[in-house]
Amino acid sequence: MAKEGFFICVEGLDGCGKTTQAKILVNRLKRKGYDAVYTAEPSSGRIGKFIKEYCLHGGKRLSSVVEALLFAADRFEHVEKEVIPDLEKGKIVVSDRYVYSSLAYQGAAGLDLGWIKMVNEHALKPDLAIFIDAQPEIVMQRLKPKKSVMENLETQLKVREVYLKFVESGELVKVDGNKSKQEVAEEIFSLVIRSLAKTNI
Ligand SMILES: Nc1ncnc2c1ncn2[C@@H]1O[C@H](COP(=O)(O)OP(=O)(O)OP(=O)(O)O)[C@@H](O)[C@H]1O
Ligand SMILES: [Mg+2]
Repeated sequence: MAKEGFFICVEGLDGCGKTTQAKILVNRLKRKGYDAVYTAEPSSGRIGKFIKEYCLHGGKRLSSVVEALLFAADRFEHVEKEVIPDLEKGKIVVSDRYVYSSLAYQGAAGLDLGWIKMVNEHALKPDLAIFIDAQPEIVMQRLKPKKSVMENLETQLKVREVYLKFVESGELVKVDGNKSKQEVAEEIFSLVIRSLAKTNI
């Protein structure tokens, strides 16, 4: 029987610290002796590269339906080619953004959440989905030089509202992203260790 890994995704607004924290988490897990791997969406595959080039930094947003379908297509490749093979090797896979980003960003743009879920039906459910909750005003400050088309305060406020719906429903676990990098890392690490303790990994 294939060994089972553990699938974690890290979610939140642009600039909340996802990349910083996902990488710290992987390093800390490795130091504890776990086989952990960092991955991200948009992925490094062809659709992911297309998204980064034409959707995020092209100056203007595409229609939200096109965005949602492209992200779902990229996710399908990401899951099939990277996430599942690594989980089958028994690894802890930490994904910097996942399906909740589609729900939050395209949901905030007005698309029906049920429809977004439907086009992401193939997306494997994470074992632990973390939402780094930082104030939109704070993350906008952090992001000053490298804003993408999604990054204006009005969008970020709406995106946060959708993320918070999934916190309420229990699908996302919230951590306080307004604290220092070290404090956030500590909160995430103890959450992950508690979740891992409930599995046999
Ligand atoms: N807790 C924190 N306190 C202060 N600054 C932070 C904190 N976490 C991250 N930063 C800084 O904020 C900036 C954005 O962080 P990071 O790139 O990790 O965010 P992100 O969520 O991955 O953003 P994006 O969605 O744009 O990829 C970086 O310069 C990072 O060093
Ligand atoms: Mg990032």
